[in-house]
Amino acid sequence: MIEETRLPESVMAELSKIIPGPEPPLEVRIPRIPVVEESLTRRIIPVSDPKLDGNELRYLTQCVQSGWISSAGRFVREFEQAFAAAMGCRHGVACSNGTTALHLVLATLGVGPGDEVIIPTFTMIATANAVRYTGATPVLVDAERETWNLDVTQLAAKITARTRGITLIHTYGHPVDMSPLLDLAERRGLWVVEDAAEAHGARYKDRPVGSLSRAASFSFYANKIITTGEGGMVTTSDGELARLARRLRDHAFSDERHFWHKYVGFNYRMTNLQAAVGLAQTERLEEFIAIRRANAARYTGRLSRIPGLTLPVERPWARNVYWMYGVVVEDEFGISRDVLRNRLARRGIETRTFFIPIHLQPIYYELFKGQRYPVAEELCQRGLYLPSGATLTEPEIAYVCDMVREAREEAL
Ligand SMILES: Cc1ncc(COP(=O)(O)O)c(C=O)c1O
Repeated sequence: MIEETRLPESVMAELSKIIPGPEPPLEVRIPRIPVVEESLTRRIIPVSDPKLDGNELRYLTQCVQSGWISSAGRFVREFEQAFAAAMGCRHGVACSNGTTALHLVLATLGVGPGDEVIIPTFTMIATANAVRYTGATPVLVDAERETWNLDVTQLAAKITARTRGITLIHTYGHPVDMSPLLDLAERRGLWVVEDAAEAHGARYKDRPVGSLSRAASFSFYANKIITTGEGGMVTTSDGELARLARRLRDHAFSDERHFWHKYVGFNYRMTNLQAAVGLAQTERLEEFIAIRRANAARYTGRLSRIPGLTLPVERPWARNVYWMYGVVVEDEFGISRDVLRNRLARRGIETRTFFIPIHLQPIYYELFKGQRYPVAEELCQRGLYLPSGATLTEPEIAYVCDMVREAREEAL
C-alpha cells in the first residue's frame, strides 16, 4: 500500500515558521452590530460559491429528458466551441478536471522521463503533479512580490539541455507578463503552456489568456469563475495538437479499428451533464467577471485605508479577473496572517491561505532539498484570500472589511 510522505520533526519545526497553521473552525456569524449587519442574510460568508441561476437547469433537463448523459452528447461540442471562442482559440477539448486537462497537454506534447519542465514554485500542487505524471521533472522558479506570478527574469538561469518547456500560471486571475517570457522561450526553442485554471477571461494586452501560448488548461471546479462542478478544458489554436489531445482523452481509440490503441491514452472525458452547465456558465462569463472586478474595486476602496495590508495589483497591460481577492499581511498590520484568519473565522468569514510552495511540500521536499524561494515563502507566510465569489453582496464586503479593521484595532 502507498505510504504517506512524512517530514522529520526537525524539518517540520523549521517549516512551521512558514506554512499556515491548521484550518480554524468556521463559526456561524452572531449579529452584534445591528446597523452594519442587518443587511446580511448569510450566516457564513463563503470564499467562493457557484452562481447557477441562468440556463443551467434548462440545459441539464434536456440532457436527462433526452438520455444523453455521457460524453457523447451535443453539449460537450457546444461548450467546447463556445468556451474556446471566448478564450480567442480555435479549439477546445473538454476534460474531467483542470489537472487532467494540464496532464493531457503535456502528454500530447510528448513530455516524458528525462525531460524538465519549468514551473513556478508558487502554485497549486496540480501544476507540479501533471509534470510528474509524465515522468518528467519539474524545475522551479520563484514568484514576484506584486503580481504573485512567476518571476520571468529568473527563467533563463533554469534552462538546461533537458528543458522542454515552461508551464506558467496566471495567479489568482492576474495574467503573467507574457512578451519577455515568450521571447525567451522562442530563442531557446521551448514550448510554453498556460495553466489558466484560475484566470478565465483575464487579458494580456487585450488578448485572452489561454490563447497566448501553444496550449492552455482551465479548471471548472465549483469555486472557479465559471464551473461545471468538476471539469476542465484544453484550449489551443493548433489543430494537430487539438486532434491528438482529443484522441488521448478518449483512450486513444483508433479510427481504423475501434479497440486498437497506438498511444497510451486516458479516460479524461467530460460528461454532457457537466458540459450543459458549462455552456450556461460560459454565456455569463463577462457578467461574472464584471461582478468580480466590481467586488475587487470595493475591497480595494475600503482596505486601502487600513495600514499594513498589501493589496492585489492590476498592471497597465492586464485585465485582472480577481478569481480570488488576496491580501498580504505585513508586519505593520500588527497581527499575523494566521491570527487575522482565526478572528475572521470566528465572525463567520471563510478565507484561504495562499499556496504552500511546491519545494516545501512533503512529496517534493527531497527533490528540492536545500533550494530556497524567498518570495514564494513570504507569500505563503503572509497571504490570505478573502471571500471573492459572484454571490458576494456589497454589505458582505463592507462587513468583511470592518472585521479586518476591527481585528487590527483590537491588537493595537
Ligand atoms: C493553478 C491550478 N492548476 C490546476 C488546478 C487543478 O484544477 P482541478 O481542481 O480542476 O483539477 C488548480 C485548481 O484549483 C489550480 O489552481
